[in-house]
Amino acid sequence: MYIVGEAEIEAVAAVIRSGALFRYGDDSQCERFEKRYAQHLGAGDFALSASGTYALAAGLIGFGIGPGDEVLVPAHTYMATATSVLAVGAIPVLVDVDQSITLDPAAFREAIGPRTRAVIPVHMWGAACNMDAIMEIAAKHDILVLEDACQGVGGAYEGRKMGSIGHAGAFSFNYFKNMTGGEGGGIASSDARVMERARCAIDPCHFYWQGRSDSIRPFAGIGARASELMGAMLNVQLDRLDDMIASMRRQRRAVLDGIRPLHNIGLQPAPMNSPDHDCAAQLMLTMPSAEAAKQFVAVLPSVIASKTGRHTFPQWDQVLMHEGAHHPALNPYKLPENQGCRMDYDTGAWQRSIDILDRTVMLPMHPLHTDQDIGDMVHNIGQAARVVFEGMPAAAAKLRRPAAVDQQKFDSVTTATGT
Ligand SMILES: Cc1ncc(COP(=O)(O)O)c(C=O)c1O
Repeated sequence: MYIVGEAEIEAVAAVIRSGALFRYGDDSQCERFEKRYAQHLGAGDFALSASGTYALAAGLIGFGIGPGDEVLVPAHTYMATATSVLAVGAIPVLVDVDQSITLDPAAFREAIGPRTRAVIPVHMWGAACNMDAIMEIAAKHDILVLEDACQGVGGAYEGRKMGSIGHAGAFSFNYFKNMTGGEGGGIASSDARVMERARCAIDPCHFYWQGRSDSIRPFAGIGARASELMGAMLNVQLDRLDDMIASMRRQRRAVLDGIRPLHNIGLQPAPMNSPDHDCAAQLMLTMPSAEAAKQFVAVLPSVIASKTGRHTFPQWDQVLMHEGAHHPALNPYKLPENQGCRMDYDTGAWQRSIDILDRTVMLPMHPLHTDQDIGDMVHNIGQAARVVFEGMPAAAAKLRRPAAVDQQKFDSVTTATGT
């Protein structure tokens, strides 16, 4: 979810008028954003890239992950989490999610094998992973943690910003995220060597402009440099981020309070790992069965977590088809170094994740919702719950239509929800 408006138009226009559209220059918008965002995260450093997908790959390159390595990824995430592992020549190994629909720490522990070098917990839909448990297990087994905070921009886990807790964190600023530059992404870490390698991956010639440190030997990388237009937009968006997230947290708390009486009839919110700190982009409900979830969304239009079209492993075509690269000789699934890695994505496995996702219903929050909208949402959830849990006929459900969001409140011309 993001808000974008006149202030961004002005900021982008100012860059165009200046004629300085390349990120390496005086008064660089990208450099300014990188410094500000690192500070916002409480991370040592942050580097912008052209996308979240490339930011994930840059993080893995920063870690030195490659052929022969397995990287654990949750069974529910956008496919880029898994394809970024393939992009660096390693093999993604799937791990179940729990009812928070983020990486299950117990399943993570069980999935660790002799070749596991890293794990990518994903703060899915802005909900926080159980980072304390994940970091503890990772430390015990000497595993590197790359947080996928692409959907967690602005969120935190127990007071620490998502993406700043693991050894590195990747972010997306695409069209659907909490801040957007149209497209965009970036990688954060407090490890200078990881960042130097990540910057080399993002721009193999970056040292020509930024100076070369002797800490790493430069290597060839594809390159995914950020643009000044993106930097200019993000500098404006960062000023709004905290208020936006705070507003969604307040609203979700109000809805959760409002639906508490429905717990008695069987309605259950999904468990959350950090409800006072996460992005609160979605309100999630755990239904007792897939059938109940279907019945709920048929009354109140909302989303079943397994049915978003691209966020669960049976929908990751390239991964399931073992098409891991553009050229057969580079395909990680075919490389001799990877032949000892686990790469059987039998879709009968990870059934526990599918079962949970089939039962999880999501309703999006929006920072511009009014008290009236929140009241309507509570009412509508109550109507759908009565159909599911008390056998009220669906035709008897009386929904209130949420009022249109007041776009002008944030001086915005467009908003979007999703992740
Ligand atoms: C969880 C997750 N990881 C990675 C990405 C990739 O980000 P991008 O689309 O900027 O490449 C996304 C974007 O949708 C995402 O949601």
